[in-house]
Amino acid sequence: MEIKGEELKVLFTEEQIQNKISELAEEMNEFYKNEEVIAVCVLKGAVMFAVDLVKSLKMPLKMEFIRLSSYGSGTVSTGKVHAVDISLPDLNGKNVLIIEDIVDTGLTAKFLLDFINNNFKTKSTKFCSLLDKKVSRVTDIEPDYYGFHIDDKFVVGYGLDYDGYFRNLRYIGYSDKAI
Ligand code: IMP
Repeated sequence: MEIKGEELKVLFTEEQIQNKISELAEEMNEFYKNEEVIAVCVLKGAVMFAVDLVKSLKMPLKMEFIRLSSYGSGTVSTGKVHAVDISLPDLNGKNVLIIEDIVDTGLTAKFLLDFINNNFKTKSTKFCSLLDKKVSRVTDIEPDYYGFHIDDKFVVGYGLDYDGYFRNLRYIGYSDKAI
């Protein structure tokens, strides 16, 4: 299976994504008030979302970046999450906001939440995902914040990739050929 740029259909436009990010930021600004937050961006997929989201957050904030991997090349999760780089500072007593691109099976989210819970006693840990693909969930993970629910589509763009490509699109799209 191959996805070609010219066959992509738009699922969420740049404007829809940016409007949703403003809504999420407003909710978070209200929730955290002026408390410090450590935003943990899960690379590579969440990079665009995390960068745009934090620009609208008003509390004192530090950004951390970690890299996890569950997909090989293609559109099907391997089902095994591994930490490519999970070096984090001391998160004890901190408000941790994890920023992900998509929760699909939920295995990545579970791996990360278990890692944080096993290693730190945070003040709060919240999970924010731009997309929520509930239909393929195999864990009981629910994001605390999400942008959009999507059905069983393999999506690309705005950080999300197919075999490394399409992360640079300003919109989120899909191909009918991708299962
Ligand atoms: P999960 O562990 O199955 O929840 O998958 C999480 C990771 O799989 C995400 O961070 C993405 O990198 C990748 N992923 C899941 N669904 C898609 C998709 O539709 N397009 C691109 N990447 C996806």
